[in-house]
Amino acid sequence: MRAIITGGSGLIGRALANSLASSGHEVIVLSRAPGRVGGLPDGARAVRWDGRTAEGWAQLCEDAAIINLAGENLSSGRWTGERKRRIRQSRLEAGWAVVAAVEAAERKPRVVVQASAVGYYGFRGDEEVDEQTSPGEDYLARVCQDWEASTAPVEALGVRRVIIRTAPVLSRTGGMLPRLVLPFRFFVGGRLGSGRQWFPWIHIADEVGAIRFLMENEQTIGPFNLSSPHPTTNAQFSRLLGRLMSRPALIPAPSFALRILLGQMATALLGGQRVVPRRLLDAGFTFAFPDAFTALRDLLG
Ligand SMILES: NC(=O)c1ccc[n+]([C@@H]2O[C@H](COP(=O)([O-])OP(=O)(O)OC[C@H]3O[C@@H](n4cnc5c(N)ncnc54)[C@H](OP(=O)(O)O)[C@@H]3O)[C@@H](O)[C@H]2O)c1
Repeated sequence: MRAIITGGSGLIGRALANSLASSGHEVIVLSRAPGRVGGLPDGARAVRWDGRTAEGWAQLCEDAAIINLAGENLSSGRWTGERKRRIRQSRLEAGWAVVAAVEAAERKPRVVVQASAVGYYGFRGDEEVDEQTSPGEDYLARVCQDWEASTAPVEALGVRRVIIRTAPVLSRTGGMLPRLVLPFRFFVGGRLGSGRQWFPWIHIADEVGAIRFLMENEQTIGPFNLSSPHPTTNAQFSRLLGRLMSRPALIPAPSFALRILLGQMATALLGGQRVVPRRLLDAGFTFAFPDAFTALRDLLG
């Protein structure tokens, strides 16, 4: 199968490209700067797009799987008004470009995998959150709702669409984990805020495995939570991190300091959701790293 990954130069896209290419699939990474996308495996190549239109790549998507991951990075800097606009707009434009490409294709793509995040649900205290849970109302929740809606028109064109509501991805090479590990290395690690907030996460191998499962399993359709089946609180996660790194987890990062350092983004770390991947489990997906201990032992080992 041919897989087209928008934003495929990022953390999730690269891991997915490697996995698909190693199984013999043809992989096309759509990037705004294909010349800078080094290190792709055999069987994968980078193609230019502008992130906004179907120009230059629509002809590639016949009979393919499209995985729409593109969007301005959420964690590289404070959320100013301008950044918030870009975070939202880049995702909507990428979604609309996918719809335009699907419209143009004579033989329609087999599936569109639409990225989203567990932020869709907003902050829910101790409530268990599955795919039936109503959306939240804060900024991130609204972005996720609009982002998901951006590719909805492909369904009317007869294309199967799955939505991956992803929890923060744990990986050695990027995302949240290296930032969480850093203070522990210097013996100043601890919980964030009260630590009582739920802290959803997924191991990068399970993120890739779940995307592939949904791509290949033609019965699956609609939203799926991509998060570990055993959610933890932030305090439990921090204690485990300290234990596995042989460091104390004694120094909490106070909420006010996180807010000063990270601005509105801190809300995402100080809130949280007790997410369960109900539909993935019901569909028969097996997690390689279902709990925080096995995931962190693998990633920190
Ligand atoms: N990683 C996580 O923990 C996590 C959790 C939940 C949801 N997600 C979502 O899943 C998607 C993939 O995650 P990721 O961690 O792989 O993201 P990432 O590492 O930030 O990569 C996203 C890619 O999107 C492209 N991009 C950035 N700004 C853009 C813009 N303004 N317009 C068009 N394209 C742009 C970039 O590719 P080029 O520069 O090559 O064009 C970049 O490599 C993201 O949308 C993210 O929000 C991620």
